Amino acid sequence: MRPSRPAPPPLTVLGIESSCDETAAAVVRVDGVVLAERVHSQIALHAPFGGVVPEVAARDHLRMVAPLVTQTLADAGMALAQLDAIAVTYRPGLLGALLVGVQMAKGLAWAADKPLLGVDHLVGHLLSVFLRREGEAPATITFPFIGLLVSGGHTSLYRCDGPVPTHIRELGGTRDDAVGEAYDKVAKLLGLGYPGGPAVDRLAASGDVTRARLSLRLPMMQKGSLEMSFSGIKSAVARHVRGPDGPRNKRDVADVCALFQQVVVRTLVLKTLRAAAQEKLTRVVVAGGVAANSALRFEMRRACKRSALSVVVPPLNSCTDNAAMIAYAGVQKLLAGGQDPLSLAAHTKTELPPVTRKGRGRRR
Ligand code: KG4
Ligand code: ZN
Repeated sequence: MRPSRPAPPPLTVLGIESSCDETAAAVVRVDGVVLAERVHSQIALHAPFGGVVPEVAARDHLRMVAPLVTQTLADAGMALAQLDAIAVTYRPGLLGALLVGVQMAKGLAWAADKPLLGVDHLVGHLLSVFLRREGEAPATITFPFIGLLVSGGHTSLYRCDGPVPTHIRELGGTRDDAVGEAYDKVAKLLGLGYPGGPAVDRLAASGDVTRARLSLRLPMMQKGSLEMSFSGIKSAVARHVRGPDGPRNKRDVADVCALFQQVVVRTLVLKTLRAAAQEKLTRVVVAGGVAANSALRFEMRRACKRSALSVVVPPLNSCTDNAAMIAYAGVQKLLAGGQDPLSLAAHTKTELPPVTRKGRGRRR
């Protein structure tokens, strides 16, 4: 009998992320195991401006990306030559910021003669549920599932039938502000600093919606609609803050936070359950930075349980921007036979076809 050949090592990919205000690198295996990852946040740089400044973001990515990649490879104990491919976020995001990661990835792919894999950031977020860090059990979720993606730049519901963009279909999204953007703007109006999502979340816990001196209607509740809108709620908060009944002390601010959060979370939960019913799916994944929100995690779990749906909300380090999700989405693209030329261009928009057009389009 001939001796059996040793199994080839599992596919392993380096991921690079620089689409907004985090520079990140990660080495991830095909089974989702994260061998090493590093994230450098630019929050402190942008905080004085109350939001992300594109030029400042691009310059800082340029400063950080090479050392981060070097350190991450060292953490994984791997040389460039041992990798199977280089994956990078190439859309959507800030153009100058994206270009930094894309150029870095191209250089590495060319130098090491490895496949280059351009990854859509939103696909990365939706697949973050499959990542596994040391000590964590394998993901219990399988396709198909409804993915609710809630971040500072995006808010949409997707039907996910598989791990590549052609398997992912947008079902409806926000017509205006992303939910994280609305949180940040409301926080700014209430003087809570940037990014304000976590601050609003914390204060909401001590607030009382029945005490709040404003009323907020659930937006876009038309029968069957999966579209969302958050700018109206934000504007109502702005009018209230500037009006005669505006918050006068910390307790009033907490009450406004509680009401705002209640309306936002109810909207997201209701639309997600509606999407699951319409698509006849029983599994739900919540992804993106706003998935860190305590009320959203709690209410989504409670509502899904009541409707006999299973729901997975990944751990916080998978929800916020990271490169592990990009590397994982890259491995899936490689398995599906995808590879990009060194002429890969960065784009500001996602490659997932939107059904909800921002600012206009059919009100469903
Ligand atoms: O996914 P992410 O890290 O970056 C983008 O791709 O946008 O999301 C960042 C967003 C910010 O708007 C931040 O305020 C929001 O997520 N966020 C939260 C919470 N933690 C982060 N929003 C509400 N509640 C939270 N606990
Ligand atoms: Zn993101």
